[in-house]
Amino acid sequence: MGEKRYQGAWIYAYTMAVLLLMGVVTGAAPKKPIAVPFGKNYVPTWAFDHIKYFNGGSNIQLSLDKYTGTGFQSKGSYLFGHFSMQIKMVPGDSAGTVTAFYMASEGSEHDEIDFEFLGNRTGKPYILQTNVFTGGKGDREQRIYLWFDPTKAFHSYSVLWNLYQIVFFVDDIPIRVFKNNKHLGIGFPFNQPMKVYSSLWNADDWATRGGLEKTNWSKAPFVAAYKNFHIDGCQSSVNAKYCATQGKRWWDQKKYRDLDDYQWRHLRWVRKKYTIYNYCSDRKRLPIMPRECKRDRDA
Ligand SMILES: *[C@@H]1O[C@H](CO)[C@@H](O)[C@H](O)[C@H]1NC(C)=O
Ligand SMILES: *[C@@H]1O[C@H](CO)[C@@H](O)[C@H](O)[C@H]1NC(C)=O
Repeated sequence: MGEKRYQGAWIYAYTMAVLLLMGVVTGAAPKKPIAVPFGKNYVPTWAFDHIKYFNGGSNIQLSLDKYTGTGFQSKGSYLFGHFSMQIKMVPGDSAGTVTAFYMASEGSEHDEIDFEFLGNRTGKPYILQTNVFTGGKGDREQRIYLWFDPTKAFHSYSVLWNLYQIVFFVDDIPIRVFKNNKHLGIGFPFNQPMKVYSSLWNADDWATRGGLEKTNWSKAPFVAAYKNFHIDGCQSSVNAKYCATQGKRWWDQKKYRDLDDYQWRHLRWVRKKYTIYNYCSDRKRLPIMPRECKRDRDA
């Protein structure tokens, strides 16, 4: 009998190890994205001739030269969901360039969720800047260095957005969470559908070392590559005020309403090791700490 129990314990331990390896126990990681070709959900926004298509539109490349950058946007608008794409950033001398992946609603009181990748001179680190706008107000910048070179390989960048939180993920590691603290009077995007956007443009007036490093046009064209486009959202008309399937989709479920311990650990690791700027601790710019920052787990 003792032996049986011993055996049972081993089976249990083995099963847990396998589940852990599969990421099942950690639970709250977003569902695995389902990649679809670019054209299923996206259309170019401007400078159509600066987008190139490969593998039947599964992969694309945006290019920036001294005449223009380019960008694309989702055909549909969404109220909540999980959105991701894999990007390989402009390699080599990318100083002055910005590659962005963001979501935004329309109008002057718009909401927005931003990833902006600020290029750099060859061999110098990119910065990933994130921001959240609610009701037309942003000023919530955070900046991190990445723990890898984003120009060497594709990495996935994703947003999980539900009524409870917005989570920014880099390869399924949460780098930022913005919780719904509406009960504290802090705005949260919840009733304005957003479209998904991406673009590559010249921002050498601010992007690299605060604008000191200018784009070296002799290195043009600057090319960013994309693949594994994934959208799993509640698609709604631009003017919808709520999601028709509210509460019924996987990203609404309890385990996606907060980060789990494993994710909080990773987020703390990013904050500790990779954060170079956080509006929450910029007393010069914001003498009064924004309310959402006081909830220190949240900012
Ligand atoms: C570029 O590299 C410099 C170091 O040379 C660094 O200070 C800066 O944060 C890096 N990134 C950007 C986008 O400026
Ligand atoms: C721009 O690139 C050219 C060609 O590689 C190089 O000779 C020049 O020094 C670069 N300029 C700067 C400011 O890096």
